Amino acid sequence: MRFISATLLLLGSSACLAETVTITSPNGDIIVQVNDDKEQVEYTVSFKDQMVIEPSVLGLVFKEQASFTSNFKIDNTKTNTQRSEWQQPWGEQTVIKDHHNYASITLKNTHLPNHQTNKGWFSELISPTPATLNAQYTLEVKVFDDGIGFRYLVPNQDGFEHIELIKEATEFTIANAHDTTAYWIPARGWNRYEYTYNETPLSEAAHIHTPATFKTKNNVHLSIHEAALVDYAAMTLNQRRPGKYIADLTPWSDGVAVKSNNGLTSSWRTIQIAENAAELLNSHLILNLNEPNKLGDVSWVKPGKYVGIWWEMHINKSTWGSGEKHGATTQNTKYFMDFASEYGFDGVLVEGWNIGWDGDWFFNGDVFSFTENYEDFDINALSEYGNDKSAKLIGHHETSGNVTNYRNQMQDALDLYKKHGVEQIKTGYVADGGNIKRIDENGIIRKEWHDGQFMVNEYLYNVTEAAKRKISINTHEPIKDTGLRRTYPNWLSREGARGQEFNAWGNPPNPPEHLPMLAFTRMLSGPMDFTPGIFDMGFNGLEADKNRPQTTLAKQLAAYVVLYSPIQMAADLPENYLAKRDAFQFILDVPTDWTKSIGLAGEVGDFVVMARQAKQTERYSGDDWFIGAVTNEEARTVDISLDFLDANKQYEAQIYRDGDNAHWETNPYEYVIETKQVSSKDKMTLKLAASGGTAIRFKAL
Ligand code: NOJ
Ligand code: CA
Repeated sequence: MRFISATLLLLGSSACLAETVTITSPNGDIIVQVNDDKEQVEYTVSFKDQMVIEPSVLGLVFKEQASFTSNFKIDNTKTNTQRSEWQQPWGEQTVIKDHHNYASITLKNTHLPNHQTNKGWFSELISPTPATLNAQYTLEVKVFDDGIGFRYLVPNQDGFEHIELIKEATEFTIANAHDTTAYWIPARGWNRYEYTYNETPLSEAAHIHTPATFKTKNNVHLSIHEAALVDYAAMTLNQRRPGKYIADLTPWSDGVAVKSNNGLTSSWRTIQIAENAAELLNSHLILNLNEPNKLGDVSWVKPGKYVGIWWEMHINKSTWGSGEKHGATTQNTKYFMDFASEYGFDGVLVEGWNIGWDGDWFFNGDVFSFTENYEDFDINALSEYGNDKSAKLIGHHETSGNVTNYRNQMQDALDLYKKHGVEQIKTGYVADGGNIKRIDENGIIRKEWHDGQFMVNEYLYNVTEAAKRKISINTHEPIKDTGLRRTYPNWLSREGARGQEFNAWGNPPNPPEHLPMLAFTRMLSGPMDFTPGIFDMGFNGLEADKNRPQTTLAKQLAAYVVLYSPIQMAADLPENYLAKRDAFQFILDVPTDWTKSIGLAGEVGDFVVMARQAKQTERYSGDDWFIGAVTNEEARTVDISLDFLDANKQYEAQIYRDGDNAHWETNPYEYVIETKQVSSKDKMTLKLAASGGTAIRFKAL
């Protein structure tokens, strides 16, 4: 796995043997090479003999200490091989295979002290400070069949007792950039991750969030992202030259990227590599690069489905704030709990229950109380009512981005919900990007980004404090997902992209391509609380220029299978479900916890077909399979083989599809429900209308 290349390189006055470390994927298709031939350490990645990442430099830049860029040489390499499996307590797939080859490469600053290198006037410029003469760091690399991960470890060492990282030097130089298409949302914008996705030549994807997806001329698909983002700043990708991205870390309000008094561990920089788009969906790389569960017994973390006092505020039927139109009343909550209980939903989310929503709540971060309810919301009676009916109250904490106000009340707020038996809280951090309000130790107001180190820590603090009370968290306006659900399984879901709410008031609403875009971008990072299931699209009228879901009804159903989340909302109002009771049946039948998931077909932003096998529970048969297929504005037919079904079983396929004349714009409601007996030997042709979909339950007979 490792070889030493025979190049002799002259560096300053010392002659060094240049070295290359090669790490190969278990199946041999992916090869990563790290070499120190040049002034800066570089890496490359190839896939099936094609270069996918051309020479790209590695390194770190500090405020005080000299950078870990020039003059670092490979000092020592340890290699290892992993062939194991592990299990998720809940998830899109129970058993996850972790097969990879690993290298831990220690890099040392080889520059000689000043007195030995003093060759004239320029030595001042190139000599490192004394503290870093023998500085070292470790680069860890893991290579899987579905991609690679690498990260930096800076150990505690002389001169690094206090670290302020200014930036990473890390590059991702995408090969054949001029022939590559990028699928992306902009980074460091006011709307966090809530942008419509762009499909452009790579050169136009200037400064973007991850996961970002790239398609080369040869149809190789890459997704660049990060895993296990803990106590570090999020990475965005900033294109400096055509095809050459640098890892651009989101800074603190004082400009520093990462601060530490105890060495540094970066998140894993990840590149998922697949032969086609659908294969990207079958990668578990992000989870594999996270640490195992740290919470012990997590049987108290419960996937499930919920309804709530939510959509009605988004469509202006009621308000979060108090008054005549207040949504979160005792009576309304009971109505939802009765409905939830009758149809087997596990929880009822109630937003607007607590004092602080009056006026323009976007700017109410300073006044939110997380323990005091509005008078017309009887939290004692309602939590009891919900517990009795097994349709439990789901908590809600909207911070409007004032995290200090939330921090100050967090213990009491969590205790209150705990006392009432609440097992799940949705949190919210509505504030423009760069406008999170933090009051520092000196009482000074600082404005932070949602994805800087400060907030990375803040979100996780909330999750771990909730875990102490056996409460799970669903974060809105979150830090992006980097797979931490493996380590902290009570971090159930999150938003972190444009959700259904944009169809109520977004400008523009989510376009027809949104779901097949999400599937190959945002969803690669982990579960999303998209909140599907809008049945009445005419709340503003059905004209094309009005805000409404730009989908057919069948596509709303398919979203439950396409967009994975262990908690799924039936977002519409109860009366709208009862008006289309037959279609509602699919939402009742679809589980949210799976034994297996398979990306069957798709193209980024065009269409996607997912198959998932239900996990055996009291309510769901583990023999049942489900399919969700969605398309963009183009109607299409997709042929699929049912060979994923158990070869020894017969199934009743309960098909919810677009009617023959369905069209998101002109005829969104036309759907057909039909059944067919099928087996694993059969093939099926899915007919999807413009922005349509198909949802199928394969009920084992
Ligand atoms: C934004 C969230 O995404 C949405 O679901 C919620 O209703 C509002 N914030 C209010 O908290
Ligand atoms: Ca949101």
